[in-house]
Amino acid sequence: RPARDIRPGPHTVSVVAHRGSSEDAPEHTLAAYRRAIEDGADALECDVRLTADGHLVCVHDRRVNRTSNGRGAVSALELSDLAALDFGSWKGQATDKEAPDRDHRDSTSVLTLDRLLALVRDAERPIELAIETKHPTRWAGQVEERLLTLLRRYGLDAPPPEGPSPVRVMSFSARSLHRVRAAAPTLPTVFLMQFMLPRHRDGQLPPGVRIAGPSIRIVRNHPGYVERLQRMGHRVHVWTVDQPEDVNLCVELGVDAVITNRPKQVLSQLGRT
Ligand code: G3P
Ligand code: CA
Repeated sequence: RPARDIRPGPHTVSVVAHRGSSEDAPEHTLAAYRRAIEDGADALECDVRLTADGHLVCVHDRRVNRTSNGRGAVSALELSDLAALDFGSWKGQATDKEAPDRDHRDSTSVLTLDRLLALVRDAERPIELAIETKHPTRWAGQVEERLLTLLRRYGLDAPPPEGPSPVRVMSFSARSLHRVRAAAPTLPTVFLMQFMLPRHRDGQLPPGVRIAGPSIRIVRNHPGYVERLQRMGHRVHVWTVDQPEDVNLCVELGVDAVITNRPKQVLSQLGRT
């Protein structure tokens, strides 16, 4: 199906920067998130993992090998070990050309969730944050406990009285979302789905979860599933939507958010730049 320009209609899809503007800058770095804010993304997505000394850092893989000049599992390294690594050069691109030198290291070193929350808090315009808990079962609740502690510190563990929550927590693990809901019942949660499993088909989500996060593969193969989820009152956030024809499909189906590595291009396709 050829890509076409879609003008924003009554339904406007939210554009979420997956690991920051990760097509243009190394994923999960400050540079990638600053770029996403400049690009006009409505929200930022990040994955969080716990270090050996109990800090939440924004890293997707179990190991740091792909995205840094170091080796080893995040869970076996302390924050000071991670801070010594370069998370910016692996992509072969400068990360923050205009940044003064003192900022350069900041924008290419490991990003803590604490630092990302501060970026969101200090942004010149409101921006949402979608935080994904990675492999939470391994830590028996410590990921969620640490996450909630941090969110409380920023006053982000519940929606403000005047409007919706700027933060939501996502996971492939229903158990992780249950832990989050138990500690912060009003914080929105997103149940991620990679494949259409038999237990997903009826559109039920784990108790209290109101947002479904199907992969674009599920949406392509089962477009009627979006309507089923919506008829059950769920919102739908689809990942990872990088191809123009997939953006078109998501808009046609009326999904609520697309999570993309290239927010600038998606916003342009939506006529929002
Ligand atoms: O936004 C959800 C998506 O990020 C889940 O997949 O592997 O990119 O974390 P992954
Ligand atoms: Ca993710």
